Amino acid sequence: MRVGFVGFGRMGGNMVTRLIQHGHEAVVYARRPEVRVEAAAKGAAPAASLAELVGQLRPPRVVWMMVPAGDAVEQTIADLAPRLAAGDVLVDGGNSFYKDSIRRAEAVKRRGLHYVDAGTSGGIWGLAVGYCMMVGGEPDAVRTVEPLCRALAPEGGYMHVGPSGAGHYVKMIHNGIEYGMLQAYAEGFGVLHAAPFKFDLRAIAALWNHGSVVRSWLLELAERAFAADPEIRGIRGYVQDSGEGWWTVQEAIERDVPAPVITLSLLQRLRSREDEDFGDKVIAALRQQFGGHAVRATGT
Ligand SMILES: NC(=O)c1ccc[n+]([C@@H]2O[C@H](COP(=O)([O-])OP(=O)(O)OC[C@H]3O[C@@H](n4cnc5c(N)ncnc54)[C@H](OP(=O)(O)O)[C@@H]3O)[C@@H](O)[C@H]2O)c1
Repeated sequence: MRVGFVGFGRMGGNMVTRLIQHGHEAVVYARRPEVRVEAAAKGAAPAASLAELVGQLRPPRVVWMMVPAGDAVEQTIADLAPRLAAGDVLVDGGNSFYKDSIRRAEAVKRRGLHYVDAGTSGGIWGLAVGYCMMVGGEPDAVRTVEPLCRALAPEGGYMHVGPSGAGHYVKMIHNGIEYGMLQAYAEGFGVLHAAPFKFDLRAIAALWNHGSVVRSWLLELAERAFAADPEIRGIRGYVQDSGEGWWTVQEAIERDVPAPVITLSLLQRLRSREDEDFGDKVIAALRQQFGGHAVRATGT
């Protein structure tokens, strides 16, 4: 089938390539001319505006957004929705907050449009391995986009998980779990690195990937990372996030579900971004005040 694509970055670029490899056609809207050239080189029809993108599709049109969550999605829908017609389907494949997706689905429904929230996992490896697709929306709308989801996913890696918002809900929790798993591996390797033995961390990661209960794809990536830079000297321990960890923690609190591992892994990411924590200075100052405990002067 023919799909319109908005967003040709790390995810969108590879997803369009995979769709074309599976016999689909794509029209790609990209803001920058050099990206349109790249899209054309990969076999897509480039569009210089959303109006041009819509003009190159036939009803019922399917437009897949693969842009950052928040303003970019909001802006794209605001520009796109008035150009679409009843029966057309908008898909958000990015990591949007599920409550935003429910609200957007209701808003576009008033124009007769359908909305599908397609949580997508697979990162830059998805092109070769396939993407895990966690899809929410009305059954008819999901049925329309199913051929695309099946082409993107490996065998068994696509599921219509529920109504609008459900796809992004499952993706949010998926990423929350990822936070906790990454933190557990980080702490384990941190202790191994400090151990009184000179462990080869790449070899330990490889060992654990053979029959151990903690074997995983993340450990395979750890093998690659340690092989490239055994001490990870080239990378600062500054860990970004793109929202899903926060939302998982908020959701857990809203629903009275204790989620200590995911919560602490989120807090650790915040800590990773600070060279010096003001709170730590307060603790050191107070210990000095009440107990005369030693402190270290700034710069030592
Ligand atoms: N990277 C991952 O591993 C991963 C995995 C799963 C899900 N996701 C989610 O997938 C979505 C895309 O991620 P990504 O990694 O592909 O991001 P990315 O590499 O930064 O690409 C974002 C794309 O969106 C375009 N864009 C941004 N704002 C736009 C706007 N207002 N109108 C039109 N196009 C706009 C960008 O165009 P310009 O080049 O012109 O800025 C670029 O083509 C995000 O929601 C992300 O959280 C990412």
